[in-house]
Amino acid sequence: MAKIVWFLVAFTYHVFVCLGNSQELDGYQKVRQLKSTLMEKYSNQLIPRKSLSDEVIVRVSPYIDLLLDFNENVGTFSVIVRFKLMWDDHLIKWNVTENNIYVIHFPVEEVWLPKMMIRNTIEKRSIFTFDDRLDQKTTYVSHSYDGYASVKAGGIVEAICITSMYYFPFDSHVCTIELYFESNQVYIGDYTYGDQTKPALQGFMPHDGWDITNVTAVQDGYDRATYNLQIKLERKPLFLFVSLVLPVLLVGFVNIFVFCLPIESGERISLSVTLFLTFVVIMTIVDENLPESSEVSIFILILLLKVIISVLTTVMAIITITFYYRHDDIKIIKKKSLLKLFTCAQICRHKGKVKDEQTSQTPLPSTAGYNMGWKEIVQMIDRICIVVLGLEFVCEIIAVLILLRGRELS
Ligand SMILES: *[C@@H]1O[C@H](CO)[C@@H](O)[C@H](O)[C@H]1NC(C)=O
Ligand SMILES: *[C@@H]1O[C@H](CO)[C@@H](O)[C@H](O)[C@H]1NC(C)=O
Repeated sequence: MAKIVWFLVAFTYHVFVCLGNSQELDGYQKVRQLKSTLMEKYSNQLIPRKSLSDEVIVRVSPYIDLLLDFNENVGTFSVIVRFKLMWDDHLIKWNVTENNIYVIHFPVEEVWLPKMMIRNTIEKRSIFTFDDRLDQKTTYVSHSYDGYASVKAGGIVEAICITSMYYFPFDSHVCTIELYFESNQVYIGDYTYGDQTKPALQGFMPHDGWDITNVTAVQDGYDRATYNLQIKLERKPLFLFVSLVLPVLLVGFVNIFVFCLPIESGERISLSVTLFLTFVVIMTIVDENLPESSEVSIFILILLLKVIISVLTTVMAIITITFYYRHDDIKIIKKKSLLKLFTCAQICRHKGKVKDEQTSQTPLPSTAGYNMGWKEIVQMIDRICIVVLGLEFVCEIIAVLILLRGRELS
């Protein structure tokens, strides 16, 4: 008797629990059932079209999350980028009024996927990169009742980027991620191409050294299965401006004052040699950070010019000092000095009038040419040098401005 009572109690309990559960699991079971019905006549190896000669148009939306690295020297860049692929699946569709199910998710392994590949990458060529087996099993494709399917894929993309350092340190580069479909009859929708800057960068985390200012998707020639994502990287110039451009300009400015130093102080040569060495050091540092390409950056040319000018400054400093300590009664022409520059100075001395007219524009009487002492010649050379260096400094500032302008235009 007790057994029967026990059995009845257990039975009623079971019935209640099962009823309750079946009420709760209704939606769950409905999805399971729908999934298995949909999968019955489905193959993930065929394109999702009733006629296999039809084509599948895929829409692509890129999302750039992070710029990991941009190495101009090697010519590579790596970004974390995700692609949302959207297409129409004509076989996974159902009548929503029958079951009230709007969206179901299938694991990527079970349904058809448009296989997208990266052409110019260094490591993984597929955009479907998974962390591990579990990750792969738990990545889903969303299918909506009207046949709309979408999946997100992506990860770290390390790609080749040919750089031009012409406008260094105010440079910007366009790096391209070249994507294509490996499956046949799969194409990109035309409306997918064009400016993607705003949507692609909505979750972008700022990078210290570089800004991404433009993201544009273009077709590769007439190939409808390609999708080139052009990413424009712009260097944040403040750091290099403060640490490199400004010091070069300032040291260049000091260069002008070599010829303002009184000769008696004996510091002219040491100052000009110090400046020369400074430029050589800066040039070495900059050179190390630039790729060894055939293209020379304008900034390197400016530095080269600075090195040459500081060499000339040193030479001129030595000449002025030599002249300064010369006695006015020495006749160089008789000594037949080997140094051409001395001969030049001799000509200067004899044709003082002509020189003066050209340079300082204060013509002296023709008789005064012979009376000009060495000290005056030195003074004249000093003035000429200051003017020339001043002009060179102005040119340099103009060159830097051109660099800045070039960046805006490129
Ligand atoms: C969907 O199901 C409802 C109810 O069963 C039916 O009335 C409707 O015609 C169906 N729609 C389609 C497109 O089959
Ligand atoms: C990005 O570049 C494209 C093509 O050069 C241009 O049409 C578009 O306006 C640019 N977008 C932005 C936000 O600058």
